[in-house]
Amino acid sequence: MRPKIVAGNWKMNGNQAFVRDYMASFKECWSDKNLDQLSDLSVIIVPPAILMVSVSEYSKALGVNGFFELAGQNVSEYSSGAYTGEVSASMLKDSACQWSLVGHSERRALFGDKLSVIVEKIKQLLSEGLRPILCLGETLEERELGKAESCVRSQLESVLDAFSVSDLSKLVLAYEPVWAIGTGKTASPEEAQAMHRFIRSVVASKSADLAEAMIILYGGSVNSGNAESLFRQNDIDGALVGGASLKPEEFTEICAQCCLGQIL
Ligand code: PGA
Repeated sequence: MRPKIVAGNWKMNGNQAFVRDYMASFKECWSDKNLDQLSDLSVIIVPPAILMVSVSEYSKALGVNGFFELAGQNVSEYSSGAYTGEVSASMLKDSACQWSLVGHSERRALFGDKLSVIVEKIKQLLSEGLRPILCLGETLEERELGKAESCVRSQLESVLDAFSVSDLSKLVLAYEPVWAIGTGKTASPEEAQAMHRFIRSVVASKSADLAEAMIILYGGSVNSGNAESLFRQNDIDGALVGGASLKPEEFTEICAQCCLGQIL
């Protein structure tokens, strides 16, 4: 069985006071739910880069740093130098990150992260030994035009073509239909499962073993009310959670449901 991941993407939210309160509640919710008893679930917190060190420090002080790993929300396509405003892969690593999101739909739509840029960002991460979480997903218009699969295929193939199977084995994929992000509209478990199955079949064209082992998360308005039915689907290996990850109670409940899905 593939390992499970629940990642909480804070997006551009939070400040020092938020981190302090969040970590304190996270600790309480985590121990109330006995989550450290459940194996095979990796929890990842994805804070804004500027809050990364505070998350590490507050969580260490509270003794909960071992319960989650850290991811960047984005990474520069360059390694260092005169790139004002950018954060490099080595800086993420230096701030205790083991992961970074790449190609989130907000980056693609608002900040011009095109396919070639995404490939460069993945190269940067891999060169520092960080694991990319590559986000994929179609817009509502693409879905309505019957182009959801071809859109996701082209996003995925541009990366599959650029890397070896060994490099690709470091990736985690996150299917996030753009129309479900922050809208309260989740794909139905069946719709999500169908796309995850399709994504696995595209990966299989590169390598069947890679496809079998590839962790594929679902994202888009995941909350404690819909997570369990998503996690019951064979090809859904966890979630990338946005808004609901800002509430520790809600986020840890989603983590608990992910573990439950494994047992059921
Ligand atoms: P959401 O965001 O859960 O708020 O829809 C998900 C994401 O953008 O990763």
